[in-house]
Amino acid sequence: MYDYLLGGKDNYAADREAVREVVSRAPDTPFMARENRAFLRRAVRFLAASGIRQFVDIGSGLPTQGNVHEIAHQVAPDSRVVYVDIDPVVLTHGRALLAGRPGVAVIQGDARRPDDIMDDPELRKLVDVDRPVAVLMFAVLHFIDDADDPQGIAASLRAAMAPGSYLAISHVTDDFDTGGRVRDAAAAYDSATSQITLRGRTDVLRMFGDFELVEPGLTTLSRWRPDPNATLPPDADRQWCYAGVGRKPG
Ligand SMILES: C[S@@+](CC[C@H](N)C(=O)[O-])C[C@H]1O[C@@H](n2cnc3c(N)ncnc32)[C@H](O)[C@@H]1O
Repeated sequence: MYDYLLGGKDNYAADREAVREVVSRAPDTPFMARENRAFLRRAVRFLAASGIRQFVDIGSGLPTQGNVHEIAHQVAPDSRVVYVDIDPVVLTHGRALLAGRPGVAVIQGDARRPDDIMDDPELRKLVDVDRPVAVLMFAVLHFIDDADDPQGIAASLRAAMAPGSYLAISHVTDDFDTGGRVRDAAAAYDSATSQITLRGRTDVLRMFGDFELVEPGLTTLSRWRPDPNATLPPDADRQWCYAGVGRKPG
């Protein structure tokens, strides 16, 4: 569904049908997906410029334009990137696309099992967990149901990271949802593989635990360190997705 939202070609008729339903309820969904990718690019550039050389991208999605390794390698060609997704299609496509590329791996993993991800032998070949790492959770934690304890998942990941590591999150919210449009659109995912749980600012902030949020803190997507010449969209303060990057003290 996300690939189709971003204008990609790796999707099925059922995905396209489901996306059309979501877009009929919240017409700015494709724009928000693009803003999420733009946040990903700015965040990874920031992290690489801050000295991070190891990235674990959980819920990475299908390899698409402007991938984490491409951005990180522009800043630091020695960066290592591990893509993790629960979807076997992502694994197949990702491996085909990235075959033979040094310093990049795709593994199948479930965000609900954070310790299995961080202990994965393929991941450990590229990532030294005793050194700072960036764990990226872009647009994935809202697919984790409250019953699966997203706060506990975030806490386990934070605990597994060395001091000086970073956690980057984007997460859909209904904090600015006048009229229930976002809730209605999220409900369109009820019949999809993964359902969406909208969360408010307090819950998303809690996912960072004692990590120190880098400036400008937890914001909407477009408000997080916009490119200097960028014109902010009119809805910049009311977007239905939060964005933030936190650093583990020490
Ligand atoms: C909306 S896409 C986000 C892709 C990318 N992170 C981005 O922000 O552009 C969400 C991805 O999360 C994956 N996903 C959903 N639940 C997951 C889970 N429990 N563990 C790992 N990946 C999951 C889906 O397969 C999908 O590829």
